[in-house]
Amino acid sequence: MIGRLFGLQPAPAERARVLELGCGDGGNVLSLAQALPDATLTGIDAAAGGIERGTQLAGAAGLENVRLRCLDLQELPEDLGEFDYILSHGVYSWIPSRARVALLAAVRRHLAPEGIAYISYNAYPGSYLRDMARDILAFHVRDISDPQRKLDAAHELMRTIVEIEEPSPYARLLREHVERMLRYSDALLFHDDLAEIATPFYLHEFVEHSNHHGLAFLAEADLSESQMRGVPESAARLMGGLPDDVVVREQYLDFFKNRMFRQTLLCQGDAPVRRELDDRAIESLWVSSSARPEPQQSVEGQTFATPEGFTVTTTEPLVHAALDRLAKEWPASVPFSALLDIAADADDAAGTGAPRELVAARLRVVLLQAYLGRIVQLQGCPSPLCAEPGKRPVASPLARAQQAAGLPAVSSLLHANVRLEGELEPRLLPLLDGTRTDTELALALDASDDAEVKDALDRFASLGLLWRPIHWAS
Ligand SMILES: C[S@@+](CC[C@H](N)C(=O)[O-])C[C@H]1O[C@@H](n2cnc3c(N)ncnc32)[C@H](O)[C@@H]1O
Repeated sequence: MIGRLFGLQPAPAERARVLELGCGDGGNVLSLAQALPDATLTGIDAAAGGIERGTQLAGAAGLENVRLRCLDLQELPEDLGEFDYILSHGVYSWIPSRARVALLAAVRRHLAPEGIAYISYNAYPGSYLRDMARDILAFHVRDISDPQRKLDAAHELMRTIVEIEEPSPYARLLREHVERMLRYSDALLFHDDLAEIATPFYLHEFVEHSNHHGLAFLAEADLSESQMRGVPESAARLMGGLPDDVVVREQYLDFFKNRMFRQTLLCQGDAPVRRELDDRAIESLWVSSSARPEPQQSVEGQTFATPEGFTVTTTEPLVHAALDRLAKEWPASVPFSALLDIAADADDAAGTGAPRELVAARLRVVLLQAYLGRIVQLQGCPSPLCAEPGKRPVASPLARAQQAAGLPAVSSLLHANVRLEGELEPRLLPLLDGTRTDTELALALDASDDAEVKDALDRFASLGLLWRPIHWAS
């Protein structure tokens, strides 16, 4: 989707060829396979255990469009093929430099001419803080080989550090960082901060490595991260004096934000990227938004707020109507054309007499700004999810397979990890195969109250756990 905003023509996601390098047990690639049933997906990882677990999950979830292969990314077969999208999440910083070279070479070799690669890595300058905590923990656990004992010892030291009220600014900085680390899952702590290798890079270094392999920086995967908001005039002035180079500008944003982690999109070095965002691309996209109208309108207009606290306030009837519709449809998405119908009707009713092309142009601008402000999401195609439980609800087959396999969290159709809550939800999910009404579900669960089941179904729907199959005509 982002590629289209920059003037590229990558293959439509719904029929794309996707490769994940270092897929682990397939968490990302299986979730994409379910969301894009007509795409073909390949995951590779050197660890046989993860590949085996992922393959079993894919079978249990009935995913026939994904193949997981046990391969070292340093020895990929020449005939692996060409891919429209290549992703590698949580790998680049955590492998030796020889493997990093192989990863970028593989992206260059296997990425389609207008394809897009996603690579995440730890970033400087923020990771200096992380390095400090890592060094301290590495020394503390240096003689422990058992993973659980390592975790226990690391937790003990971290709890001790946060209890010591040493007033120096450096100690306070470390304390605050360690406090955050104490909230990490064991898996994250083990992989990120107790790993033998975790090499951060400045963005400019990462881009230099990529350029060396014939790849170019396209954008950050989360474009809102590239926005200058709430910075003082002096920072805007300094940015204004920088060379007209997107990487230099992004690098300074990392300095200002002390960024620790990046999710960078790359393309082939000779891909025809246009640097200014092309809002016309939005006309072919689908839009969704978790923003809800605030109960009280103020003199400035109607405010819509997301659960994360991002807000937009409008007095424009066309914007109000479009956001209202998105709020009603959430978590489902709406095609731009349908939003335009709604916006044009609202504009007509307000009597502005604007022609449809003008309403479309305004809606495109508003949606692009709302996307950059984290108010709306833009997608190349809709997710196969149900925003309402319906008569006989069906839960995501992948989520059901993950739960049956005993995973601590399941993947939603919004590509988030969801933990099932309470006593009812874990018993309800496996029953959602489309054969039972909510009354039958309540009976099967021996629930004292139908309302409890209805509430759980509504929560599943809002989290994107309820599924409806979509296939794209070929
Ligand atoms: C933290 S995991 C990330 C898994 C997955 N991408 C995710 O986001 O959950 C890093 C993965 O990279 C894999 N890996 C490391 N070196 C590799 C190599 N040389 N070839 C293939 N996979 C490798 C590891 O086995 C591990 O599964």
